[in-house]
Amino acid sequence: MIREKDRPLLSWKASYSVGVASVDEQHARLIFLLNEFRSAIEENHGCEVLERTLGRLSEYAETHFAYEEQLMERCAFPDLEAHRRLHANAASRIRGFMESAELPRDTLCSVVLVFVQNWLLNHIMGADKAFAERMQAHGIT
Ligand SMILES: [Fe+2]
Repeated sequence: MIREKDRPLLSWKASYSVGVASVDEQHARLIFLLNEFRSAIEENHGCEVLERTLGRLSEYAETHFAYEEQLMERCAFPDLEAHRRLHANAASRIRGFMESAELPRDTLCSVVLVFVQNWLLNHIMGADKAFAERMQAHGIT
């Protein structure tokens, strides 16, 4: 099994592009903040730093989700509600992990890291790419 530590940091790749520059920039920033959180875990920082970096990541994720949803409203994207639910579910999963009292804090952070890493890439490559075409057709690039 590949340990999380042995995996290279994520970096934004051209293949992640959804064809809308502002969304791509925000995805790249999310990846940057995710790496910051991962480094804090790997460098064994205390709870305060972990929570601060995770806070920055989830705060920015919420801003980004709202931005995408606004764009989808603007171009009357038919799957807006389903997409909105994907965003809301991810945000509540993260909150749920962090509020759980069953595992030690640093273990929870690693669980959140793996969850966000997988969720973000799948989401960009799947659901986000699905609405990109619609946005381009509405002149949003
Ligand atoms: Fe999205």
